[in-house]
Amino acid sequence: MGGALQGIEAVYLAQKAGYETFVLDRREDAPARSISDSSATIDVVAEPEKAMKLLSDCDAVIPALENLDALQKLDSMKSGFGGPFLFDLNAYDISCSKERSNQIMADLGVPLPRPYPECGFPIIVKPSGQSGSVGVSEVNNEEEMEMALQKVKDLNDTPVIQEFVHGKSLSIETIGNGKTAQAYITTEVVLDENYDCKQVLCQPGILSDEEDTRFGMCIKQVAEAIHLNGLMDMEAIGDKNGFRVLEIDARIPSQTPACILAGTSINLLDELYRAASGQESSAKNTRRWSSYEHFHINGPVMKSCGEKVFSHVDHPRILRGMFGADEMITDYEPGKNEWYVTMINSGKDKEELFWKRKDAINEIIRDCEIEDFIDSTPKVV
Ligand SMILES: Nc1ncnc2c1ncn2[C@@H]1O[C@H](COP(=O)(O)OP(=O)(O)O)[C@@H](O)[C@H]1O
Ligand SMILES: [Mg+2]
Repeated sequence: MGGALQGIEAVYLAQKAGYETFVLDRREDAPARSISDSSATIDVVAEPEKAMKLLSDCDAVIPALENLDALQKLDSMKSGFGGPFLFDLNAYDISCSKERSNQIMADLGVPLPRPYPECGFPIIVKPSGQSGSVGVSEVNNEEEMEMALQKVKDLNDTPVIQEFVHGKSLSIETIGNGKTAQAYITTEVVLDENYDCKQVLCQPGILSDEEDTRFGMCIKQVAEAIHLNGLMDMEAIGDKNGFRVLEIDARIPSQTPACILAGTSINLLDELYRAASGQESSAKNTRRWSSYEHFHINGPVMKSCGEKVFSHVDHPRILRGMFGADEMITDYEPGKNEWYVTMINSGKDKEELFWKRKDAINEIIRDCEIEDFIDSTPKVV
């Protein structure tokens, strides 16, 4: 349900696991539709009966959207679906409030950024109930604080004020069956200049073995404390010496699962379906190195970009081996002036991945007569 970025992720993973895919979206041009086996245009809130006719035929239904009305509607319809509803509305509700989820995590002893004023400047001020970095400010003094708080107030939200943590952005997923939960793989998320995710890396050694185990324990504990019956991810900032958890989100994320599949052969959507239908996990980690990243090509300029920019992709397809890359989700056509691409590569080690990715970028630069290659990063990391 939903054919935007999360929908692309769900379709991609489902197809890799060998399932037939069907996308429902109210938008005719939702990008996941062109990579799925079939699709339909329906607004589930406005036309629930019409949606139910189709969903009662499905072996599993997964919402790939964050519109609360649609999520509640789907949750109220789930007994009529042809198979499990791969979503936990209660856990989603908890994860939508940073205030509430931080309290749960603090009680469990999960390492969080220190609260203000104990931590001193610089700090981060962010709204409790938003996502996608909306309303997030870095604050260095009392004057900036006022502006940051006003931003949160304008969103009718309450502020979370905490230590500015430096380090890599990290992510991990867990799947729970309502009683127990299993933690999966740590990935590194690389941001563009607008703090949007432009690349995910799945590779050994992002955290030390000890800290990696601790990160896995943290998400497992939180998942079990809230009786998670579905998929959840946890975001943190850290390095080899440790990490601080920023938030949890109980829904299918975009980007990281596809990178994990390329890097480990673990298919989180398949795992989710198995957990929901009482089957054993089939995860076997074939440890490789993988990279998942977005680019926007416009005339002679090729720019790495965040997923928000990539979401403008128009009728993408999945191409294998194009420009020497393992896989591309792209609206590229030979001679096309403007196009978008998600490039997925893996290698048996760092060098193999490095060269596959570099060669593919160079191949695009040569073939499409690119004059400028821009790879932007945030001002402060
Ligand atoms: N305490 C912090 N220290 C440093 N950066 C932060 C902190 N909190 C948030 N950020 C930055 O802001 C982004 C958005 O914050 P996050 O807590 O993940 O909220 P959401 O993604 O729901 O908007 C993060 O990805 C991170 O880059
Ligand atoms: Mg976040």
